[in-house]
Amino acid sequence: MTQEVRTVQTTIENTASSQQNQDVGKGRGVYISTYGCQMNVNDTERMYSLLEMQNFTPVEKPEDASLIIINSCSVREKPVHKVYSEVGTFRKMKEKNPDLKIGVGGCVGQQEKDNLIKNQPMIDFVFGTDQIDNLPTFVAKTFEGEKKQVQAKFEHRSPYHIETMVRNPGVATFVNITKGCDNFCTFCVVPYTRGREKSRPLQHILTDVRHLVKRGVKEVTLLGQNVNSYKGDEGVDFADLLAKVARETDIERIRYTTSHPKDFNQKLADTMAAHQDKVMEYIHLPFQSGNTRILDRMNRNYTREEYLEKIAMLKRTIPNLVLSTDIIVGFPGETEAEFMDTVTMVQEVGFETIFAFKYSPRPFTKAAKFEDQVDEETKTRRLNYLFDEHDKMAFELVKRYEGQTMKVLVENVDREDGKIQGRSSSNKLVHFLGTPDLIGKTVDVKITKAFPAVFRGELL
Ligand code: 5AD
Ligand code: SF4
Repeated sequence: MTQEVRTVQTTIENTASSQQNQDVGKGRGVYISTYGCQMNVNDTERMYSLLEMQNFTPVEKPEDASLIIINSCSVREKPVHKVYSEVGTFRKMKEKNPDLKIGVGGCVGQQEKDNLIKNQPMIDFVFGTDQIDNLPTFVAKTFEGEKKQVQAKFEHRSPYHIETMVRNPGVATFVNITKGCDNFCTFCVVPYTRGREKSRPLQHILTDVRHLVKRGVKEVTLLGQNVNSYKGDEGVDFADLLAKVARETDIERIRYTTSHPKDFNQKLADTMAAHQDKVMEYIHLPFQSGNTRILDRMNRNYTREEYLEKIAMLKRTIPNLVLSTDIIVGFPGETEAEFMDTVTMVQEVGFETIFAFKYSPRPFTKAAKFEDQVDEETKTRRLNYLFDEHDKMAFELVKRYEGQTMKVLVENVDREDGKIQGRSSSNKLVHFLGTPDLIGKTVDVKITKAFPAVFRGELL
């Protein structure tokens, strides 16, 4: 056994509380309702894995569960409401089945803490984003009869040691490399719900990836709120990490998300280009606003011009690069002209995919206290306008892919139309006719029809 494997195993033993291996579940069903980002999806996998060790059985429908957990998201306003409405639905189940236990975790759990239990007496326990590994303890205590547990402490001092836990990793899976965020963009609740930024040790990540390869995984997405500020041991930065995962593991494809423009440098672009056989030519690089005054108020630490310079550098360095982005419209004080700077930014860069949102004031954040909030109607109008302008451009942009051959990693069979589904190296979803034995293989597909979000093709 190598030194690094031992390190990770020790970590597993340390994080595993004695409650984990007890028969708390007695085979009963557990259902986890998940909202939000990939980080949350990964956290849910971790929760299921921990609860399976306590002899709970994951179930597909909440009606079949004795334990329901809502793994919530609070990055924008609506998901918070969703938690409340979902608790309402589960309340009816609890009235029929008094043994049913309900817990809330994730960012809403972190943010609302005891408010949740005060407002919703049906909730048995609430836990924060740093408390997932203690879930078996809360669950055991809940089933022993303890009521209204709230645990949302941040483990600020402890290192970020978690091994990846996925039950059925499939072809493509996620590996956390950083957590938390220290950037404090003025609109964003994440620094408050996920805590201070921490990086996992390099060797732990490499060991994780090697284990996943042994389980048949072909592609990993390195995950963090701000991956390119990764700080490993002995001065290892994100570019070094990427190169090591490419060189020192047998993983076929590597992606990562999310990057911050201020931390994106030439070294990282060069590393991507040098390892283009493994590191996919796709970057999600949120710009949030195309106007420098708004960027300043957002505390983003770059100007419009600096963002555009980085894009030019990336396009020069990485052949066939595909970019996507996040955008906020109607940030406090945004004028019509400043909003138009965002529209022209989308056009100038030529994003094939955008994720755009209306600004939503979040608790604890600076921007929520700005007095010049934009009214809802204006936000909606701007968002619709932005999507319309993007649609006009994106349908044209992707036409150039028609007739091209792409390397597609086959992930699964689409439930709806029975077609094979996979991703190109540029992260496009591609549908084509094929057989399930292709799952896990990388095949050549000729693109016959290209839409911004999905391509159709023929297996060559
Ligand atoms: N309002 C609207 N959108 C937000 N995002 C983060 N916080 C807010 C907010 N308060 C968006 C950003 C971020 C993405 C994950 O969610 O665009 O990149
Ligand atoms: Fe939020 Fe900004 Fe951190 Fe991204 S970089 S998680 S937007 S604070």
